Amino acid sequence: MKPAKLVKLAIEAAANAYAPYSRFQVGAALLTAGGKVFTGCNVENASYGLTICAERVALYKAVSSGERAFTALAVAANADDYCTPCGACRQVLAEFCGNAAVYMANRQGAYRVATVAELLPAAFALAKS
Ligand code: THU
Repeated sequence: MKPAKLVKLAIEAAANAYAPYSRFQVGAALLTAGGKVFTGCNVENASYGLTICAERVALYKAVSSGERAFTALAVAANADDYCTPCGACRQVLAEFCGNAAVYMANRQGAYRVATVAELLPAAFALAKS
């Protein structure tokens, strides 16, 4: 899938954001190795720390649907700045998709790209048994 299409899906996903506290709406679109797309948006809570980011919603939807391999992620917010994943999301993404391309977009659809490993060098990891 072309990056611009994945970015468009992320922008569309942002429309579902539940962000009454920050008013910062974020959407994510995650591409599996098999070509499926899982989208997510941020879901805030009155107890602010319970908020979950768009990227983790997309990833958890995908993993809970049986997916483990991902090639690309697009993230976009209702902002003119490029939306970059927060530190917590980088660590979660590193668990499943260190080599995936992350397209960090603005609301116009312009984007920058980096891999998860570039965004979080020396991510914490444990040996898998
Ligand atoms: N947010 C995301 O969904 N993804 C990010 O990468 C950055 C931050 C959300 C969390 C919160 O609902 C709002 O943006 C403001 O921080």
